[in-house]
Amino acid sequence: MKQPTAIITGISRGIGRACAALFLEEGWKVVGTSTSGKAPFEANSLEIYALDLANPENIQEFALDIRKSYPKVNALVNNAAILVESWSSSEVSLDILRHTFEVNFFGTVHLTEALLNTLQPGAAVINLSSGWGTFSDPSFSAEVPHYKMSKTAINMYSKLLAHRLKDREIKVHALNPGWVKTDMGTSAATKSPSMAAKEILNAIQNSLPTGSFLNGNRIGTY
Ligand SMILES: NC(=O)c1ccc[n+]([C@@H]2O[C@H](COP(=O)([O-])OP(=O)(O)OC[C@H]3O[C@@H](n4cnc5c(N)ncnc54)[C@H](OP(=O)(O)O)[C@@H]3O)[C@@H](O)[C@H]2O)c1
Repeated sequence: MKQPTAIITGISRGIGRACAALFLEEGWKVVGTSTSGKAPFEANSLEIYALDLANPENIQEFALDIRKSYPKVNALVNNAAILVESWSSSEVSLDILRHTFEVNFFGTVHLTEALLNTLQPGAAVINLSSGWGTFSDPSFSAEVPHYKMSKTAINMYSKLLAHRLKDREIKVHALNPGWVKTDMGTSAATKSPSMAAKEILNAIQNSLPTGSFLNGNRIGTY
C-alpha cells in the first residue's frame, strides 16, 4: 500500500505528540496540528499546521488546504481538546461550558464534517473521549461538568457518524485513553502517552465493530 496519511490534531504535546511520533515510526505520513503551528520535533513525513478549533474560519481554511494537498486520508485522530475547569468543582459556568464545547465539540465536529470527503474506504476516525463522558462511569461524580458534557456529546457524534459512514467502509470509534500523564492528565496519572498512542493505532488497524466505545483497546460501554 502507498504511504497512508493520518491527520492528528493537537500534536504539540501529550497523547497527540506520542501518536504523531508512533505513526511516523510506523511509516505513516502525518499531518499534525497545534494552535501555534509549531511541532515538537521534525520529520520528513510530518507536516504541521496551525489550527485553533475554537475558530471556525481557521477550520474552514485548514480543511480547504487538506482537501487540496491530501485528498486521500486514511485516519483522522480527533485528539485535541481542553479541560479548563477545576477538578474539584461541580458548579456550572456557561462561559466555561461554551468555551469547552467550542473546542471539544463544535470544533471537532466542524473539522470532521469538513474532511469527510477525503476519507478513503477502510479509513478510521478516532475521537478521543473519556470515561468521564460515559453514562456507565462506575465512579460517577458531579465534578468537572463542562468537560464531561463535551465528551458525552462527542460520544453521540461518534455513534451517529459510525452509522452514516458504514456503507463507505469507514470506521468510527470513541476512545477513552484512560488516565494519561500529560498536561491535562497531570503527573499523577498512571499511563504513558506512548501506551495510549499504541492503543489508538491498534484501534485504527484492528477490525473492531464500528461505533465502538473503546477503553484503550477493549470494547466498553458508552
Ligand atoms: N490525559 C488524560 O488523562 C486523558 C484522559 C481521558 C481523555 N483524554 C483525552 O485525550 C486527548 C488528548 O489529551 P492530552 O492529555 O494529551 O491533552 P494535553 O496534553 O492538554 O494536549 C492537548 C492538545 O490539544 C491542543 N489544543 C488545545 N486547545 C486547542 C484548540 N483550541 N484548538 C486546537 N488544538 C488545541 C493542544 O495544542 P497547543 O499545545 O497548541 O495548545 C495540545 O496539543 C483529549 O481529547 C483529552 O480529552 C485525556
